[in-house]
Amino acid sequence: MDIINIEGGKKLQGTVAISGAKNAALPILAATLLGNGKSTIHHVPDLRDVKSMLSILDVLGAKTTSTNGTVEVDASGELFTKAPYELVSTMRASFCVLGPLLARCGKAEVSIPGGCVIGARPIDLHLKGLEALGAQIKIKHGYISAKAKELRGADIFLGGAFGSSVLATANVMMAATLAKGITRIENAACEPEVVDLALFLKAMGAKISGEGSHLIEIEGVKELKAVKYTVIPDRIETGTFMLAAAMTHSDIEITNVVPSHSGALIDKMRACGVSIETEGDKMRVKMTRKKTESVTVTTLAYPGFPTDLQAQMMAFMTITPGISVITEKIYPDRFIHIAELNRMGARIFLEGASAIVNGVPKLSGAPVMASDLRASAALVLAGLVADGVTEVSRVYHIDRGYERLEEKFSNLGAKIWRESR
Ligand code: EPU
Repeated sequence: MDIINIEGGKKLQGTVAISGAKNAALPILAATLLGNGKSTIHHVPDLRDVKSMLSILDVLGAKTTSTNGTVEVDASGELFTKAPYELVSTMRASFCVLGPLLARCGKAEVSIPGGCVIGARPIDLHLKGLEALGAQIKIKHGYISAKAKELRGADIFLGGAFGSSVLATANVMMAATLAKGITRIENAACEPEVVDLALFLKAMGAKISGEGSHLIEIEGVKELKAVKYTVIPDRIETGTFMLAAAMTHSDIEITNVVPSHSGALIDKMRACGVSIETEGDKMRVKMTRKKTESVTVTTLAYPGFPTDLQAQMMAFMTITPGISVITEKIYPDRFIHIAELNRMGARIFLEGASAIVNGVPKLSGAPVMASDLRASAALVLAGLVADGVTEVSRVYHIDRGYERLEEKFSNLGAKIWRESR
C-alpha cells in the first residue's frame, strides 16, 4: 500500500499548472455515449476515477484509448446497457451513464452506487428527473433498471433537502438531449462542471440554454454527433494549491485556472489576509503577513463555498489564530478529517454540522489515515506545515482525484515523497 510522506516546514515557490477538472471530465466521458462516432476529449486528468469511468465505457461496448491527457471514445457500435456493481461501486460518478444509456438505447441497468464515507448520498433526484421524462424505473437486486420507448420533454423541479444536485442535473440534462420536445430543469445545479457538460453537449448538437443558471432548458434533437472538446481546469485542485501557498507563507503562481470559478475561496482567503492577484488564466497567491485572520465558512452550492474545499480550508484554519466556524450544508457528515487533524495537534470540536476550530501555533507530524479524497488533501496540507514527518496512508483516495500531487508539490519545493509498503 502506498504512503505519502511530508516533511513540514518548507516554503513553496515557483509555478504549478492545474490539471483538467475531474468532476467535469467524468460526466463528459459518460456523455460521449450519446455521440455517433469517435469523440476526442483533451485535458482529461490521469486519475483513478477517470480510469474507472473508462472501464465502464469499455464494458458498455464503447472503445476507449487514453494517451497524454487525451481520451478517445468511439461509441458508434451497439452498446450493452448494464453497468455492473463491481465498477459502479468504485465511483459514484459512474451512475451518470444512466441518462445517456437510457436516451440512446431506450433502456439501462445501472447498479445503485450506495453510500460513502462523506454521507448517505441518495439518488432520488436522478430517478425523479428520469421518471418525469417518461422512464419506467424499477429497483431490483441492487440495480436501477430504467426503460422508455420514447423520452418526452417535461418541466422538472430538481431540488432536494440539500438544494440542487450536480450529477442529477447532469444525468437528466443528458437524457433530455434526445427526448421529444422541451425539458425545463428548475433548481438545476449551476456548478462550472455542469456548464462544461452543457457546452460539450451543445458542441455535439444538443439544444441547451440557461446552463450556469437555476433554469436549464433543453430542446430534444434526433441525434448527437461525436466531437473534440477540452475540459475546464480543476477549481478544487486550484483551491488546494492556493491554500497550500497561504498555509506555508509562500508566494506561488498557479497557471491554467479560471479565477472566476474560485470566487468564494478567493473572497475568504483575502479576508484571512492572503494576497491573490489574477490575470487571465493565471493566479498569484502570496502570504506575507505574519498573522492570518480566522473566518467563518459555510459550504453551499456554487457559487457558494465548495464542500470539496471544506476539509482543506479547515486545515488552514487549524493554524490560524482565533476561532473559526466551518459549517457543512451539503454533506452534514463530511467531517472524518477532524479526528486525523486533531491527531496532528489541531483543536477542532464538532457541534452538529459545524466544526469549531481553535487555531494552534503549530501542528505536529504524525501517521494519519486518508478517509476520502478531499480529506486526504487536507492531511497533506497539514503535513506541509507540521513539525517533523507526516505519513498519510490509504493514499488511493488522493489518486482518485489529484493528478501527480506529490510531484507538483515537490516541484514547488515541498519535501514530499511516496513510498510503497
Ligand atoms: N442529493 C439528494 N438526492 C439525490 C442527489 C443528491 O438528496 O438524488 C443530495 C446529496 O446527498 C447532497 C446534495 O444533494 O446533500 C448535493 O449532492 P450532489 O448530488 O450535488 O453531489 P454529486 O453530484 O453526487 C458532485 C461531485 C462531488 C461534490 C458534489 C457537491 C462529481 C463526480 N462529484 O457529487 O465531488 O462534492 O457534487 O458539489 O461531480 C469530490 O470530487 O470529492 C466529490 C465528492
